[in-house]
Amino acid sequence: MKISIFGLGYVGSVTAACLAETGHEVWGVDVSADKVAMVNAGKSPVIEPRVEEMMSRAIQRGMLRATTDPRAAVAATELTLVCVGTPSLPNGSTDLSAMLDVSGQIGAALAEKSSRHCVVFRSTVPPGTVRRTLIPAVERASRRSVDRDFDVCMHPEFLREGTAVKDFYDPPFIVIGEATASGGDLVARMYDGLAAPIERTTYEVAELLKYSCNAFHALKVAFANEMGTLAKSLGVDGHRVMQLFALDKKLNVSPAYLKPGFAFGGSCLPKDLRLLMYAARQNDLALPLLGSIMESNRLHLERTLQRILATGEKRIGMLGLSFKVGTDDLRESPSVALIEVLIGKGFQVKIYDPDVMLARIFGSNKRFIEKEIPHISSLMSSDLKEVIEESGVIVVSKPSPEFQEALIAHAGDRLVYDLARVSLNGVPARYEGICW
Ligand SMILES: NC(=O)c1ccc[n+]([C@@H]2O[C@H](COP(=O)([O-])OP(=O)(O)OC[C@H]3O[C@@H](n4cnc5c(N)ncnc54)[C@H](O)[C@@H]3O)[C@@H](O)[C@H]2O)c1
Repeated sequence: MKISIFGLGYVGSVTAACLAETGHEVWGVDVSADKVAMVNAGKSPVIEPRVEEMMSRAIQRGMLRATTDPRAAVAATELTLVCVGTPSLPNGSTDLSAMLDVSGQIGAALAEKSSRHCVVFRSTVPPGTVRRTLIPAVERASRRSVDRDFDVCMHPEFLREGTAVKDFYDPPFIVIGEATASGGDLVARMYDGLAAPIERTTYEVAELLKYSCNAFHALKVAFANEMGTLAKSLGVDGHRVMQLFALDKKLNVSPAYLKPGFAFGGSCLPKDLRLLMYAARQNDLALPLLGSIMESNRLHLERTLQRILATGEKRIGMLGLSFKVGTDDLRESPSVALIEVLIGKGFQVKIYDPDVMLARIFGSNKRFIEKEIPHISSLMSSDLKEVIEESGVIVVSKPSPEFQEALIAHAGDRLVYDLARVSLNGVPARYEGICW
């Protein structure tokens, strides 16, 4: 393929060297005449293992050239990767000036080009930027329409400095945000021969995914550091703790607990977080990340409550009472906390939870239910259809096929407020997810 790359910094230089090495014909573009001259001399503008040797080879073979002329680069290629910087402004927002400059330059070049072109934004930009800011800039300058006249993709970059070439050839995945199959197909074709899975999605998912990944990486570092700090002050080997922690690929280093949904609860998580904070206080340690988790959870519950209050509906049907499917354990269940506030505010609440119904009759939780939450126990019903039909809003707090079937059959035009992602695709008619 013939590919132009705008921005010859870390991402652009590595990408140019790797794509040229793979057999593509690459044009590098930068505003810095020095960087352009370096690339044309076979020297890398960035210090990164293997990049200089690959660039030098590509220049000798005529597979790579650099220029300060955006028009020439766009005219000579079928696809443009935009890899210019998107630094922070003092208020935390993103400086998009280089992205806007480049979008205008590409648009102006497209105005003079007859064959179809694909513009691929690789730089990290806030969700909505491609659709609302960059595409209009290209359209204005080209006087052409996206999708009809040219393709646009949002294709986030996941390489890490220091291991960038290795990461290029062995990425965790290749993510393509697209609006047209022709654009996505072309981007995917650049990677023919690479084993990585290709995930195709919308612009906005691709944009936010990049921030989610970086936030999670930062969270992991801070978590390990706070656990290590606490371990050290307790005289425990924190490295051994985290090494064993990472061996658990089922719950710890895995997709478990990573679906947006309702607040956590139960008999262990809140209790054990409290102990960690107690131990930190005893040792005069500030561990703000660990210390913020309960507050984050409390706010999540509060948002749920506010949303239910905002419906204006006084009859609430609650499907699910224990904190997760298959347990009757009600200790620190966020559903119990939610219901207690609703009852306190005079709402009529009806509850259906088969796991807890059984516990009311036999289980070890019978005592807890009778002693601690008799006011809630009395609101329970064994008739799911009746709970749905006698409510104005139905709140679903556990994923259960039984709930899903009953909602489809009986919810009618009642609002189903889903905390558990039980019901999808607009069935029933009025459906809202807690964080989707
Ligand atoms: N560095 C990384 O490890 C990394 C990894 C993943 C994603 N990203 C993202 O990729 C983007 C680029 O990052 P980077 O570290 O390569 O940036 P960088 O600052 O190293 O390079 C940006 C390059 O763009 C050039 N440039 C600026 N305006 C230009 C214009 N109008 N035309 C042509 N070139 C222009 C600059 O001269 C510079 O060479 C950012 O959005 C960043 O967040 C970076």
